[in-house]
Amino acid sequence: MRKFHAFIASISVALLFAAYLAGCSDHGTPPPGAPIGGDFVLRSADGPVDTRALRGKVLLIYFGYTHCPDVCPASLAAAAQALHTLSVEERPKVRLIMVSVDPERDTPARLKEYAAYFHPEMIGVTGTPEEIAAAARSFGAGYIRQPAQPDGSYAVDHTTRTYVLAPDGRLAASLELNAPADKYLETVRGLLK
Ligand code: NI
Repeated sequence: MRKFHAFIASISVALLFAAYLAGCSDHGTPPPGAPIGGDFVLRSADGPVDTRALRGKVLLIYFGYTHCPDVCPASLAAAAQALHTLSVEERPKVRLIMVSVDPERDTPARLKEYAAYFHPEMIGVTGTPEEIAAAARSFGAGYIRQPAQPDGSYAVDHTTRTYVLAPDGRLAASLELNAPADKYLETVRGLLK
């Protein structure tokens, strides 16, 4: 039940933070005045990840955490499935980046191991709580750490959208929870043209 409650809570948080996008859910384009995303420099196990250094690539940016029981794995699996469908020419032009909203437990090493499970082009990044908060804020993403369970574990409810940055760095779309792999693929390919 705990898992279920966490799942529902995640959705509630997502709806809260994504409410401004509700009218545009068909095509995922943010309306005027919505957060437009922003560049960040965060840390991976292989060094700093600077979105400005990734211009020319389509970036799929997801705010989540490795202990997430259900929502993160489902979203990341759909994104990864789309990446697996890309041609060998297309694949180097796309990166899937998970920004951890749980810097306390998600070390760069743990994030690397987690990312490798999904796709070779996936990168897990973390930073200070302030750096992560700033990155999330620029995309209009939110997250709330829940109280710890008796065993010390805790959930972090978070926005479940996947933000899609075009090769020129602009926020081109955001994909909702449960978007199928085909939707990720279509969005990525549309931006690679
Ligand atoms: Ni999650």
